[in-house]
Amino acid sequence: MSVSIHVDGKREGAKINKNIYGHFSEHLGRCIYGGLWVGENSPIPNVNGIRSDVVEALRRIHLPVLRWPGGCFADEYHWRDGIGPKESRKRMVNTNWGGVVEDNSFGTHEFLELCRQVGCEPYINANVGSGTVQEMAEWVEYLNSDGDSTIARQRWANGHKEPFHVKYWGVGNENWGCGGNMQPEYYADVFRRYQTFCRTYGGDRLVRIACGPSGDDPRWTQVLMEKAGRYMDALTLHHYTVPGTWEHKGSAAGFDLPRYYETLAKADTMAYLLDKHLAVMDIYDREHRVGLIVDEWGCWHDVEAGTNPGFLYQQNTMRDAMVAALTLNIFNRRADRVVMANIAQLVNVLQAVILTDGEKMLLTPTYHVFDLYQPHMDAKLLDCAVFSPVMEGGVKQVSASASLKDGAVTVTAANLSAESEAEILLDVEGFERAKAEGRILTGECHAMNTFENPEHVRPQAFNGFRQTERGLALTLPSCSVCAIRLHE
Ligand code: AHR
Repeated sequence: MSVSIHVDGKREGAKINKNIYGHFSEHLGRCIYGGLWVGENSPIPNVNGIRSDVVEALRRIHLPVLRWPGGCFADEYHWRDGIGPKESRKRMVNTNWGGVVEDNSFGTHEFLELCRQVGCEPYINANVGSGTVQEMAEWVEYLNSDGDSTIARQRWANGHKEPFHVKYWGVGNENWGCGGNMQPEYYADVFRRYQTFCRTYGGDRLVRIACGPSGDDPRWTQVLMEKAGRYMDALTLHHYTVPGTWEHKGSAAGFDLPRYYETLAKADTMAYLLDKHLAVMDIYDREHRVGLIVDEWGCWHDVEAGTNPGFLYQQNTMRDAMVAALTLNIFNRRADRVVMANIAQLVNVLQAVILTDGEKMLLTPTYHVFDLYQPHMDAKLLDCAVFSPVMEGGVKQVSASASLKDGAVTVTAANLSAESEAEILLDVEGFERAKAEGRILTGECHAMNTFENPEHVRPQAFNGFRQTERGLALTLPSCSVCAIRLHE
């Protein structure tokens, strides 16, 4: 066997927060408009303006938490523009993304209706870059107040007597960049000030989320933790996998093998980034009270030919699926400290799990990875040692993580090689006689779903196990990810 995976099925580790399987939706390109929101009068089947095919697909993967309204858009968003009668909502130009008109027809109530239909928690990212403390404080009051104030009455007048009980609250986005170009010392003070006015209404204490660094910038983390750590519940991290350079990322669907391995090597740096930032956080937070939230991650390729460059629309292949499998295994393995992650973005933008074209919809290979990994949500992490050859670019050929829930062990193992199969010996201590069943997603590394052939890549049942004296023997084809369930 070239690879062995040893899982200790008897020693339970941290709970894998289901919010690690979260998503992000910004007013960007066709994510909100067309992807999620079609309006009540659309011929596309919808409930209260939200497209039903997308909601149904998201319910199937039990999407736990959804971040909105941005991204860079968040720091230019004024929530009052998006409430009340649609015909009187303010029109603005989305200066960040494509210069298109934003008519604010999708606002606070529509977002929370989307979350209600999907069955997920809302995570709202407030405007700090160009919004006032008062504006932000009144948004919190509008959403969560159970009192009889003028602001709460506005919510009643807009059709929602009950508070929305929003829990996750981002205080700015990328404030080192599009959110105001601040320096960490300045933002730390701004955060301290804004979070003071994130009031608790009823029992709804907000989870206060501070803007963290981009990629490899431990100084931002250090300053934030030192000066404002005690005021926050979580700190964010953004890390995109950008093949090539920002100027020449290359096409999502057209790449050669060196670029494939380079992409995986760049995605794999997530493990290093988590360790690095968490080590800095530990200095100021020995009790591990502050969680880490990776609220933007995923592959960022060149836009599809002929599409608006500001819309960030890209196809999604098995290469992206491998990045998702690798990254989700990395998050699971740091379940002790990573409390949420949000892939960018939900529909039609960057590494989307869903693409739409008018009334058509398809599920990308990345969607199917989220589907396969579902049993990890809120399960207990198990120690999982992987002995594997290393590929070009320095990444292990096989990536895996394991968890225990309801008496069953789930191991998600990805063979990241685009060329060679992986012969694996899997031994799970304490589950030597367990029954094994599996599901696999596999395809040539360029394989993808298109509107002409939307089911080309999809999971299949996997039964290719052989019981040996030393554990289960299995062979994973090149470019594949398998979820193996072991139970009595
Ligand atoms: O996801 C696209 C953009 O990437 C977001 O708006 C911003 O936060 C990040 O730079």
